[in-house]
Amino acid sequence: MSLIPVGVLGTGKHVPERVLTNFDLEKIVDTNDEWIRTRTGIRERRIASAEEAASDLAFPAAEQALKNAGITAADLDLIIVATVTPDMAFPSTACILQERLGAKKAAAFDLMAACSGFIYGLANATNFITLGTYKYALIIGVEVLSKITDYTDRNTCILFGDGAGAVVIGAVPEGRGFKSFEIGADGTGGPLLKLHAGGSRCPSSAETIAQKQHYMYMAGAEVFKFAVRIMGNAAEEALRKAGLVKEDIDLLIPHQANIRIINSALHKLNVPEDKCIINLDRYGNVGAASIPMALAEAAESGRLSPGDRIVMVGFGAGLTWGASVLVW
Ligand code: UT7
Repeated sequence: MSLIPVGVLGTGKHVPERVLTNFDLEKIVDTNDEWIRTRTGIRERRIASAEEAASDLAFPAAEQALKNAGITAADLDLIIVATVTPDMAFPSTACILQERLGAKKAAAFDLMAACSGFIYGLANATNFITLGTYKYALIIGVEVLSKITDYTDRNTCILFGDGAGAVVIGAVPEGRGFKSFEIGADGTGGPLLKLHAGGSRCPSSAETIAQKQHYMYMAGAEVFKFAVRIMGNAAEEALRKAGLVKEDIDLLIPHQANIRIINSALHKLNVPEDKCIINLDRYGNVGAASIPMALAEAAESGRLSPGDRIVMVGFGAGLTWGASVLVW
C-alpha cells in the first residue's frame, strides 16, 4: 500500500483582545518588568474575558485555517483539539467546535499532552490521512491558561497566556509535507507540572479551592532542566528519522515557554536566531497553542517558501515532548 504525503493546507490563529503587560503584573504580585523580561523573554500576554472559553478562541482560528486551506467545515473528516483547558471535562471541545463549525461528517476528540499536544495531534491525524482513511483534518492547539493560573503566585502567573492556533492538513505533492514525528513521554515527571483538583483523584470541593488546588502547580526549575535537555534531543531525533541533519533546518518553531530554553535549543542545534520564530514576548506561554500560533504567524508573514524544512519542537506536562520535520 502506498502512503499519501500529508502536509499543511492552511493555518489560522486567534488571541483574546485584553493585553496583560509585565507592568500590569507589577501591580498584582511582587515582580518587575526587568526580571520577567530577562528571565523569560516575555513582555505581555493575552487574557480571555470571563465569558471566553477554549472553543471561543478556537473557532475563529479554525475558520481562518479552513479559509486558507480552501475547504469548508463540511469537508472535514476529523477534528482534534489539543488542550489542557477545555470548555468543560465533557463533551469535548472538539465536539463543541464540530457543532459550531457545522463539520457534520467529522469525528472529533480532545487530546491531552499539554504543551506537546499540538505535535501529538498532528502525528495522530497524519496517520489517518497518509493511510487514506481520511482526507482532511483540523488540528487545533488552544489554551485559556489564565483560568487555571493563580495570580498571587509569581512563579507561574508571569508566564502564561491565552490563544489558539489551527491547521488544516491533507494530501500534498510528493516530496513535501511531514517527514517525521518524534513524540514521547516520561510519566515520572508528572508531579512537576500539574492541576491537582477537579478530576476523579481529587474532585473539586470547598477544601480543594481553599488549598488553591484548582490552579496549576509547577516546579519551574525542574521543568526548565527537562526542557533544555529534551528540546535539542527531540529535534535531533525528528531530523534523524527524516534523514536530515541540523544544517538542513530552514526554520525552527519551538514551544514558546522561556527565551532561555529557546536559546539553548538554538545553540544545541546550531541554528541562528533569524531562523527561529519567537513570539513569546507578545503572548507568553500559550501551552498547546504556542507552536500552531507561531506557524500561522510564519505563514501569514510570508516567511515560508515551498520546500522550506521546518522543525517544530515542544515539551510540556506529563512530562511529554514532541517534534516534527515538515517540508512546506
Ligand atoms: O510549557 C512548559 C511549562 N513551563 C516551563 O517551561 C517553565 C520552565 N521554567 C522556567 O521558565 C523558569 O524556571 C522560571 C521562569 C519559572 C523561573 O526562572 P528561574 O531562573 O528558574 O528562577 P528561580 O525559580 O530559580 O528563582 C530565582 C529567584 C528566586 O529568588 P531567590 O530565592 O533567589 O531570592 C525567586 O523567588 O527569582 C525569584 N523569582 C522572581 N522574582 C521576581 C521567581 N519568580 C519571580 C518573579 N519576579 N516573577
